[in-house]
Amino acid sequence: MDADRPPTAASVFDALGTDYERAFAGSAAHRDSLGQLLHLLAPHSRVLDVGSGTGRPTAQTLVDAGHEVLGVDVSTVMVDIASRQVPGAEFRCADIRELNPQEGSFDAACVYFSLLQMSRADQSEVLRLVGRSLRPGGHLAAATVPLDVEGVNATFMGRPVQVTSFGESDFTARVASAGFTVLSQESSVFTPAHPAGLPEPHLFLLARRIRPS
Ligand SMILES: C[S@@+](CC[C@H](N)C(=O)[O-])C[C@H]1O[C@@H](n2cnc3c(N)ncnc32)[C@H](O)[C@@H]1O
Repeated sequence: MDADRPPTAASVFDALGTDYERAFAGSAAHRDSLGQLLHLLAPHSRVLDVGSGTGRPTAQTLVDAGHEVLGVDVSTVMVDIASRQVPGAEFRCADIRELNPQEGSFDAACVYFSLLQMSRADQSEVLRLVGRSLRPGGHLAAATVPLDVEGVNATFMGRPVQVTSFGESDFTARVASAGFTVLSQESSVFTPAHPAGLPEPHLFLLARRIRPS
């Protein structure tokens, strides 16, 4: 790694692989969010999973419920693991910022903790991109670590990372300005099950697309 450059999301998550899944498997808030989304989805919905990680729990839960999932992740290791673990979903190795999904081609999208290595401008643009990819009335389930930080060097599960995020109300406002109405939000604190895991705030939002973004 070049000492002057922050580690890329791909390098961080290539190194973590299934350790990430194990560390976050106990998140009741993540399971609740997926449960709420499942209640809103019509049978055989098409769902975009942004930063799909190992495919568990998100893609797995959706596929088990009969939905069609496209997972996109910038980490080749994560895409390999997810493809093996959730063969019923499609996974693509790509940077979400370079994906150009067809307007209105998904019924729902999940964006769970996948924006944190992007600039604030890119996070807002990805939320808009996701909004455009949904049919009107389509749903977004999103989660972030709601901290008012920009380009902060931190340690995540023992690895150096650079983190950019928004506080709770700013993140919710970004989702709204990407063309969504926020239906519900849940705040909690979660400690990853990892020797170097530290308590972190989590914010889960459920939103509906109301207008072109
Ligand atoms: C914190 S993990 C969360 C994984 C999964 N969403 C979950 O909650 O279990 C973030 C994931 O987003 C991916 N990611 C980060 N930036 C990305 C980008 N620009 N495009 C696509 N995937 C990205 C990472 O590689 C990683 O697998």
